Amino acid sequence: MIDVTVKLSDQLILKNPVLTASGTFGYGDEGRDLVDVNQLGGIVTKSITLHPREGHPPPRIAETAAGMLNAIGLANVGVEHFCREKLPYLAGLETAVFVSIAGSTMDEYVEVLSTIEQANLGFAGYEINISCPNVKKGGMEFGVDANMTRELTQRLREATDRFMMIKLSPNVTDIGLIARAAEQGGADAVSAINTVVGMDIDPVTGNFKVSTGLCGLSGPAIRPVALAAVYRVAQAVSIPVIGVGGISAAEDVVRFVRAGAHAVQIGTLNYRDPGIGVKISARLPELLRKIGAGSLGELRGLVN
Ligand SMILES: Cc1cc2nc3c(=O)[nH]c(=O)nc-3n(C[C@H](O)[C@H](O)[C@H](O)COP(=O)(O)O)c2cc1C
Repeated sequence: MIDVTVKLSDQLILKNPVLTASGTFGYGDEGRDLVDVNQLGGIVTKSITLHPREGHPPPRIAETAAGMLNAIGLANVGVEHFCREKLPYLAGLETAVFVSIAGSTMDEYVEVLSTIEQANLGFAGYEINISCPNVKKGGMEFGVDANMTRELTQRLREATDRFMMIKLSPNVTDIGLIARAAEQGGADAVSAINTVVGMDIDPVTGNFKVSTGLCGLSGPAIRPVALAAVYRVAQAVSIPVIGVGGISAAEDVVRFVRAGAHAVQIGTLNYRDPGIGVKISARLPELLRKIGAGSLGELRGLVN
């Protein structure tokens, strides 16, 4: 019997290592007629903010070689609506649900998380999106500063006992340093990576392909960047690492596990096939058998 379960903590065991990535699977309810989400290892919701957000003006996405560019701008229903309309459904699922949280000040992150805690519903935990501009620090992202990452993690740690992972940005000089700051602040895990800064321009019209100009690159194009980031982060911390970036097949899951990941998230590929996560997790036992491994854990960090 091949074991694909993943132990993230004493309280949290995933049925398999495949989660959906924030912002690419809605609130987990849009695809409910298309895919049995309970077969996933987990779901990460799109990032929730204190107030509802319309997001950036269109065009917000563009295709590019082996990936996509996006600047959605954290469009979401806001925390109150989320708690009322979305969380009860999510809490009833038989898979691990992680609520992604975003904010433009530390107080805002804490308020969003505390509001969700007050709803007092059963779900696994949180993913903290620190790739957000901090308005009090002139728009500098939380995730590029180790001190801000540590302090934010500490403040959120004080507000919840649930599992909490910090999602790292690749757009930094030393991602290991930021990961360590999250660990020191009390994170249970880190996930890596968020999108890579990118841009495209129409050569004829001169228009940016995505309205904000600078935007986020995702999909298979960034897989080698994500793999390197996971490898560096896994060397830097002793908490679990969740790999994200360009994953499109069971083989990719094993690549990330070999780089040191406990589990993975699938983002952009959900747009091609919302059932991809379930298909990939179903293929894992066969692939592990072919490799000669009895469990995923046996392969973690095994690279030469
Ligand atoms: C359309 C779109 C929206 C996204 N929205 C969020 C978001 O709200 N919060 C977040 O932390 N990451 C967000 N991301 C980043 C993904 O969760 C993921 O980290 C990134 O796309 C890399 O994974 P992938 O290559 O599998 O897509 C978004 C990505 C895309 C493509």
